[in-house]
Amino acid sequence: MTKHNNMSRSWRRVAVNAQAWTPTAKEFAGAIARVQRDERERILRFRFIQDAKSSLVGRLLLRYLVQEELGVPNAEIELVREESGRPVLRCPEHVSQLRFNVSHAGSYVVMAADSEREIGVDVMDHRRPLHDDVERFFELMTTTFTPKEWDNIRRSDTHGTALLEFYRYWTLKESYIKAIGLGLRMDLQRLQFASDPRLSHAQDDLMAVVDGATCEVDGERLSDWTFEQCHLDPRHCVSVCVHRSPGSYRPQPFVIMDTAAVIDALAPLREDELDDPAVMGIFAQMKDKPQRQ
Ligand SMILES: CC(C)(COP(=O)(O)OP(=O)(O)OC[C@H]1O[C@@H](n2cnc3c(N)ncnc32)[C@H](O)[C@@H]1OP(=O)(O)O)[C@@H](O)C(=O)NCCC(=O)NCCS
Repeated sequence: MTKHNNMSRSWRRVAVNAQAWTPTAKEFAGAIARVQRDERERILRFRFIQDAKSSLVGRLLLRYLVQEELGVPNAEIELVREESGRPVLRCPEHVSQLRFNVSHAGSYVVMAADSEREIGVDVMDHRRPLHDDVERFFELMTTTFTPKEWDNIRRSDTHGTALLEFYRYWTLKESYIKAIGLGLRMDLQRLQFASDPRLSHAQDDLMAVVDGATCEVDGERLSDWTFEQCHLDPRHCVSVCVHRSPGSYRPQPFVIMDTAAVIDALAPLREDELDDPAVMGIFAQMKDKPQRQ
């Protein structure tokens, strides 16, 4: 298990390769007995095993964070969703200052937290889209980015790097939308990002964090938000957006943890469901998701 100590605060940026976790039906039942019943029901409705694992690991990560950061045992953690769908803690006031956000894409589930400021995170897998060629895919996404953002994305000379740049911009935009909790209600054309060019040269040190990306909202530069960007591996890029001025804190690298370590750290909420035959049966019926190349 990854070792942490209170000083490092290393559980505030955690990434887990949820798809590397290949649980038996009993192990899956054991893991889902550690999240709230409403989340258990939601996760069991997924058709694809990959989606169920990502969603479950996301919930486990949030519970792990709250337990490690605030010392609240798993049984006392209650997460609720705001109207927009964003999960938040239902806790006494002093505890609920903790801000966090989760994202899942491809193999990874990531979680980012801050002790008091709004935070959003987004991870993307930048392999080719499953059904479209890159040009067709970009056409479908025209309104996601401003003309200037598209210039930056398309400046890359091969489709591989243009896709990577596309997803870097995507995660930046999503991280901000998620930090302010607006989800689909934000007009994406109001936001104009410039990705940190140092990220393109960070391929040799994948997890190195750069924090020089900038954002304008309706033409006004945002000066009190910081955007941290890094790669988790050659296929996944991630952005974290924090409501803190650039330079006022030290950006944090992601710590990679195993799903099993997160599960082990959390006590089951319902001992009698650790080998629930109903859950094991549903898990056995879930299908594999078609894979991108
Ligand atoms: C939730 C949303 C903000 C992001 O969804 P997504 O990118 O498909 O998925 P991610 O994996 O990054 O994030 C999902 C997680 O964010 C959290 N979340 C849900 N609603 C949220 C909201 N309004 N704000 C912040 N976080 C939210 C949840 O933890 C969710 O996981 P869970 O349901 O398993 O608990 C969604 O509203 C959305 O799809 N927005 C798209 C906006 C858009 O068009 N973007 C284009 C590219 S910029």
